Amino acid sequence: MAKKIKNIGVFTSGGDAPGMNACIRAIVRTGIYEGANMFGIYRGYDGMIDGEITPMDSKSVSNIIQRGGTILKSARSERFMTQAGRKKAAAQLRKHKIDGIVAIGGNGTFTGAEIFLKEHHIPFIGIPGTIDNDLYGTDFTLGFDTAVNTAMQAIDKIRDTADSHNRLFFIEVMGRDAGFIATWSGLASGAEAILVPETKTYMEDLIQKLETGWKRQKTSSIIIVAEGDDAGGAYEIAKKVKEKFSHYEIKVSILGHMQRGGSPTCFDRVLGGRLGAAAVQALLQGRQNEMAGMVNGKVKFTPFSKAIRHKLEIQKDLLALGDILAS
Ligand code: F6P
Repeated sequence: MAKKIKNIGVFTSGGDAPGMNACIRAIVRTGIYEGANMFGIYRGYDGMIDGEITPMDSKSVSNIIQRGGTILKSARSERFMTQAGRKKAAAQLRKHKIDGIVAIGGNGTFTGAEIFLKEHHIPFIGIPGTIDNDLYGTDFTLGFDTAVNTAMQAIDKIRDTADSHNRLFFIEVMGRDAGFIATWSGLASGAEAILVPETKTYMEDLIQKLETGWKRQKTSSIIIVAEGDDAGGAYEIAKKVKEKFSHYEIKVSILGHMQRGGSPTCFDRVLGGRLGAAAVQALLQGRQNEMAGMVNGKVKFTPFSKAIRHKLEIQKDLLALGDILAS
């Protein structure tokens, strides 16, 4: 039988995402409720290597549920990718007698955890935290709902100008490898086209679409471009369109990191609370090497190996719906 875990560490890693603080609060308070000692590890794997570890009590997570970012700070660690870095991290955890970890992050975080576990045998449970929503094993990642609502509100505001001045706007949203933010924010704001990295962008099709809209007397248009689209970023695509389609005045807007910050939505706070509590309980029950995700409204655990190696498919049905509704 697995040894009972007494001291649990929590950290955030990779890009920060709204709802991480609500999740940290749930992890710390559930752990204390279950009788464990709780520790915060600052700056992700880098802070673990450098021993930036402090005890957390119930009060240390007061008044953070509504805050964006992460009180534990975050980082993408190059050093943890080396065996020497991981060895130092393990020594720091042992120094604090930490015998279980909850890691909030994305693919890179779980990849590191999987290797670490094989080398140092300290149990990990992961929680999907990224605005990109690109993790297999969960319907929604922490931060995605807030990010798409932020993007949608910004697009709505830009549409006012597009409409008032009869302009064509290319709006770039985040998503280096994934088009979920583009798909959802584009669908919710009635975009004329949504361009994502997962599907090939054909410039002729885009121009054809714009021509059709123009003939139907559309006086303004919004095209949403995920930053990682294969045809380039919003500036590059706008330039290509301008060469062939001069009917509109063309403008570009890059939403950027505003999508990562801000107070989490109700959905992300509740998601953070449920996954945080489930992750701690799972650790205490002897589970390890798994990600706690939300599938069809229920907490579901997926092995890291599966979460990392499988790619979550972009929702092509939503992209098709966007096309129909914009026609
Ligand atoms: O993974 C989340 C994300 O916001 C991506 O959508 C984006 O491409 C990337 O992080 C940006 O990372 P950074 O803040 O390190 O530039």
